[in-house]
Amino acid sequence: MGKFGREIAGPNVDRIIEKLNKAFADEWLAYYQYWVGAKIVKGRMHPNVEEELEEHAKEELEHAEELAKLIVQLGGKPLLSPDEWFKEANCKYNKPDNPDTKAILKQNIEGEQCAIKVYKELLEYLGKEGDHVSAHEIIDILEDEVEHEEDLENLLEDIEGE
Ligand SMILES: [Fe+2]
Ligand SMILES: [Fe+2]
Ligand SMILES: [Fe+2]
Repeated sequence: MGKFGREIAGPNVDRIIEKLNKAFADEWLAYYQYWVGAKIVKGRMHPNVEEELEEHAKEELEHAEELAKLIVQLGGKPLLSPDEWFKEANCKYNKPDNPDTKAILKQNIEGEQCAIKVYKELLEYLGKEGDHVSAHEIIDILEDEVEHEEDLENLLEDIEGE
């Protein structure tokens, strides 16, 4: 992004970068939670759950990628060390102690609900700042998170209805 491109992000571009970095931290933790969950999950319908977790892991990583690009475009730097992910994340990491499909799904549904809340607030903030370029990216990510929650809820319903 050029000088004027950055300027139209508004006067609080540093604050925007900070918030984008916090979301970036969330995405890495969500990625790992799905990734490791897919490795250990067992119980009812576990092949279906494993497949969905793997797909969501891939999508969370894509979100991290998109956020990193945006941060760099705005003149910032994505968090450079994984220990910052825990410090900066908005949503907590839900360690999958229980490998049962239902337990894993419930943890990830919680994670998605947190992500939806974070992105909704971020979108409102970006709207106030007039940063429409970042807002556009965030809308795309928010759409994915809404879909993720629904996918997991449907799987949980299927398992509970069996
Ligand atoms: Fe995400
Ligand atoms: Fe998600
Ligand atoms: Fe999905």
